[in-house]
Amino acid sequence: MSVEAIEDLDGLRTFLGPARSKGRVIGLVPTMGALHGGHGALIERARADCDRVIVSIYVNPTQFGTGEDLARYPRRLEDDLAFCEFRGVDAVFAPTDAVMYPDALHTWVEPGVEAQGLCGESRPGHFRAVATIVLKLIHAVGPSRAYFGEKDLQQLAVVRRMVADFNVPVEIVECPTHREPDGLAASSRNGYLDSGEREAARVLYRALRAARQRIADGGRDPNEALGAARAVIASEPMARIDYIEVVGPEDMQPVPRIQGTVRVAGAVWIGGTRLIDNVRCEAPREAQPT
Ligand code: PAF
Repeated sequence: MSVEAIEDLDGLRTFLGPARSKGRVIGLVPTMGALHGGHGALIERARADCDRVIVSIYVNPTQFGTGEDLARYPRRLEDDLAFCEFRGVDAVFAPTDAVMYPDALHTWVEPGVEAQGLCGESRPGHFRAVATIVLKLIHAVGPSRAYFGEKDLQQLAVVRRMVADFNVPVEIVECPTHREPDGLAASSRNGYLDSGEREAARVLYRALRAARQRIADGGRDPNEALGAARAVIASEPMARIDYIEVVGPEDMQPVPRIQGTVRVAGAVWIGGTRLIDNVRCEAPREAQPT
């Protein structure tokens, strides 16, 4: 059976009506298309958990800032439909701008502290637009579960908090970052890289791992861990740091001292492409005085 491609809200309601009335569990995988192995992993998880899986494909214009890559963002709906069909997705919701923004919005979701710093600083207004479109997609589809990758850590934190603050009846399921065999985090933007840049892009995960090692070795000072990461990035002439931080796993704010679980999150420019990634780090327990 071929995957259903649905463009509007009525079509979605009609398609999901029978499943909803039978109490079936609906899973949503929100995407901007240009689907890759990372999306494949989200779909696979949703397939395992849910009776119906809907993938949304919408390049949300409001989450791109001036000078960002909205115009060149890859759009390949036919390939994406085939990708979804192959993975047993029940329907793809691929709305137009007129469906998602029939009028200029008067109301936006204003995220809190989770959106401050990291990408929130480099991309002002980005998370306000992400939170708003995610809420609209959740309302459109009405899923029991929505699936997000940990690669977009700050997005996940913003969405998690929005859902909690607004009592949105959906479970946010976090899925591990999908990596290429050499460690590069899967991203639609990896397709912008030429072969030299693709090689250079590996530096980000190497740098994050260096910071993680410092923390695993007992380093408690975030600056020490970040110094290790920066030194790795400095060894790659094609890479330029946008940010690199040790942050708390919930609020995304820099920690003064490393304790328990933290995330080391980074963004680098490789040529004209900005890549993000992060790793979870566990500080070893401190010896208790006897
Ligand atoms: O992660 C993405 O692809 C997008 O930010 C999302 C969640 C689909 C919202 O446009």
